[in-house]
Amino acid sequence: MKKMSIVICIAFLAYACGNSNQNSSDQSAASGTSTPQTEAAAPAPATASTDLSDNPDYKKGLALIAKNDCLTCHKVDEKLIGPAYRDVANKYTDKDIPMLAAKIIKGGSGVWGQVPMTPHPNLSVADAEQMVKYILLLKKS
Ligand code: HEC
Repeated sequence: MKKMSIVICIAFLAYACGNSNQNSSDQSAASGTSTPQTEAAAPAPATASTDLSDNPDYKKGLALIAKNDCLTCHKVDEKLIGPAYRDVANKYTDKDIPMLAAKIIKGGSGVWGQVPMTPHPNLSVADAEQMVKYILLLKKS
C-alpha cells in the first residue's frame, strides 16, 4: 500500500515538475498524498485556538478545496508541490483575494518557484474567492 502510494506520488511529481528538483530530499511528502479527503478535515483543529471551524468562510472554503484537486499539491503547514497554505496566508491580505482567485483559475508560476500551478478553468470566480478566504484565515496571528 505505502509503496504504491509512493510510486504514484513520484510519478505525479515527475509529471508535475517536469524535472528532478525535489526528488530525493522530500520523502516526507510521499505519505498521505493519495487521500486528499481525509486530510482536508485534519488541519482544522490544529489551526488556531479561536474556533475557526465556526466561521462560514472557513467551512465553505475548506469544503470546496476538499472537493477539488488542491490537496494533491497543497497542505496547510507543509510545502508539497505548491506552497503551504499557511505561508500563502502570511504573505497576502484580503486585498489580494481577487488576484489569488484569478491565479487559481488561470494557473501560473514564479511567485514561490518555477513549478507551475495547474489552471482550474471550471471554477467560478466566487468559488475560487471562497477558497482564498479560507486560506487567508490560516494566517498566524
Ligand atoms: C499541480 C499542483 C497544484 C494544484 C492541483 C493546485 N496548486 Fe495551488 N499552487 C501550486 C504551485 C506550484 C504554486 C506556486 C505558484 C507560483 O510560484 O507562482 C501554487 C500557488 C497557489 C496559491 C498562491 C498563489 C500566489 O501567487 O502566491 C494559492 C492561493 C493556491 N495555489 C491555491 C490553490 C487552490 C485553491 C487549488 C485547488 C483549486 C490549488 N492551488 C491547486 C500547485 C498546485
